[in-house]
Amino acid sequence: MDVEIHIATSAYAKYAQEVCDLIYESAQARGTGIAKRSPEYVAEKINAGKAVIALDGEKLVGFAYIETFSHQRFVANSGLIVHPDYRNMGLAKKIKRKIFDLSRKLFPNAKIFSITTGLAVMKMNTELGFKPVTFSELTDDEEFWKGCQGCRNFDILQRNNYKMCLCTGLLYDPAQKEVAASSFAKKVVKPIVKKKAPNKLYKK
Ligand SMILES: CC(C)(COP(=O)(O)OP(=O)(O)OC[C@H]1O[C@@H](n2cnc3c(N)ncnc32)[C@H](O)[C@@H]1OP(=O)(O)O)[C@@H](O)C(=O)NCCC(=O)NCCS
Repeated sequence: MDVEIHIATSAYAKYAQEVCDLIYESAQARGTGIAKRSPEYVAEKINAGKAVIALDGEKLVGFAYIETFSHQRFVANSGLIVHPDYRNMGLAKKIKRKIFDLSRKLFPNAKIFSITTGLAVMKMNTELGFKPVTFSELTDDEEFWKGCQGCRNFDILQRNNYKMCLCTGLLYDPAQKEVAASSFAKKVVKPIVKKKAPNKLYKK
């Protein structure tokens, strides 16, 4: 097995149908609903360089793509899929990292979010710095929530006026990261630098 993960370009658009099939078959196996994705939509993401694709030689073994909502103020990393024969080897983690880095590069000021019931996604996103939040902190873009229509729990979401459901909301807020980093710098780094600065040994 020699898997390589690429940032997608139009050269990979030929895999769009296969990506949809893989997502569909996995959803069937799990017995869950899925957000509907057409091969045209997936190809659009690939052509726009807003996807990552994992290949073992010519074989498609993993995929994820970027969606933007609320005028690019929110980004979701969607459609994460790993071929059943390639699971539990750390491949999803690598794909997640790559699509996360790509999202940060393309949309540095956007909040990145996901909703999931899956432990694997919760674990991976938490490692990347996502925090659990209520749905009130996520996009209110109808386009995103329309994606839930294929889920078997959609009636629960509707009943709760789109405010809560069985999924956990996870959010990466770059502004919070900066605040955390700057308060870390103020509280920890600055005092250390201050203490070290007046080095009398080297004073003439
Ligand atoms: C979920 C999925 C992407 C995981 O892919 P994978 O390559 O097997 O995941 P990894 O090997 O990188 O594992 C990442 C972490 O998730 C955990 N994990 C993986 N599958 C898991 C599962 N089914 N249940 C609980 N934890 C799981 C791993 O133990 C690992 O955690 P660790 O870092 O603490 O060891 C894959 O099973 C899949 O494609 N499932 C169908 C589609 C899907 O559910 N997509 C996500 C929602 S859109």
